[in-house]
Amino acid sequence: MRFLKKGDDKKPKSESGSEAKGHPDLKVISGSQISGRQPQQQAPPQQQQPQNITLPNIKYKIAVASGKGGVGKSTVATNLAISLANAGGAVGLMDADAYGPSIPTMMGIQEQPKVSPERKLIPLVRHNIKLMSIGFMVPEEQAMIWRGPMLHSSIRQLLSDVEWEELDYLIIDLPPGTGDVALSLTQAIPLTGALIVTTPQDVALADVRRGVAMFERLGVPILGIIENMSYFLCPHCNEKTEIFRKDGGKNMSERFGVEFLGQIPLDAEVCTAGDIGVPIVAGHPESPQSEAFGAVAQELETVLAETGDEDELTIL
Ligand SMILES: Nc1ncnc2c1ncn2[C@@H]1O[C@H](COP(=O)(O)OP(=O)(O)O)[C@@H](O)[C@H]1O
Ligand SMILES: [Mg+2]
Repeated sequence: MRFLKKGDDKKPKSESGSEAKGHPDLKVISGSQISGRQPQQQAPPQQQQPQNITLPNIKYKIAVASGKGGVGKSTVATNLAISLANAGGAVGLMDADAYGPSIPTMMGIQEQPKVSPERKLIPLVRHNIKLMSIGFMVPEEQAMIWRGPMLHSSIRQLLSDVEWEELDYLIIDLPPGTGDVALSLTQAIPLTGALIVTTPQDVALADVRRGVAMFERLGVPILGIIENMSYFLCPHCNEKTEIFRKDGGKNMSERFGVEFLGQIPLDAEVCTAGDIGVPIVAGHPESPQSEAFGAVAQELETVLAETGDEDELTIL
């Protein structure tokens, strides 16, 4: 794995020298090495061909994407993962947002993963979810500047060098937008599909359009759209107020002919829960907010079951 960090020229804070900035099993190289590299000329031809990582023990590999940041993608990914686990699934959550890994904070865990005798990283476990994040391996305060090849190899490492073992679901939290990570991911593993998170406003929906188009181009099925921050649920009287536009995600899913998986309320508890590292579905599983996430998880299960049936029909 290769990555550049802001202040690469500065001495790292660690005691054990320049190689010890991050996880010992990650190779850190300097910026000049990266800029001097010309992959087109130097890499042997087989390295230019992406090699699929199959992960046969993971039933559903699902990317959570959004056209832009701040729509609640990581919040949805964490709470959805826990909802699926509460329904009996074995669930892994991979934080592929190299620019702003927020899964460690949201899940309330910040440790370096241990390494198995087979030299694989062992996922951390929190709220009954197996977790892996770039954020576990580099100090949080160090902002990172990543380039395409570094992102590509970090994504492959999070998939193939991690002891995920048997899982029903691997939920993959992507960085916002339609960039390199989505491309690397689709080149690395056969994704079951992608979930698109959006808010109801027009501006977010324009980004959804781009996200849907990207996955279609990459041949990844869109499993559905999840509308976050759909309405404000008054904690006193339970009245719903549609702060942003009404039903934008729903209308969009109809226009694109993709499933609409449900609406999540805008709610202070949802935000606080993420900040303190106990997602609302883990801390308050009976709350209306958690029920909304549970309903989305159920819809997703239905979509996946139907997709599975179609596969079977095709095979027969
Ligand atoms: N439904 C919601 N209600 C209240 N706050 C939310 C909700 N969804 C997300 N947030 C908050 O909005 C901010 C951005 O959410 P985040 O999940 O990090 O977005 P993204 O991953 O798309 O960048 C966070 O502070 C989060 O706690
Ligand atoms: Mg995020």
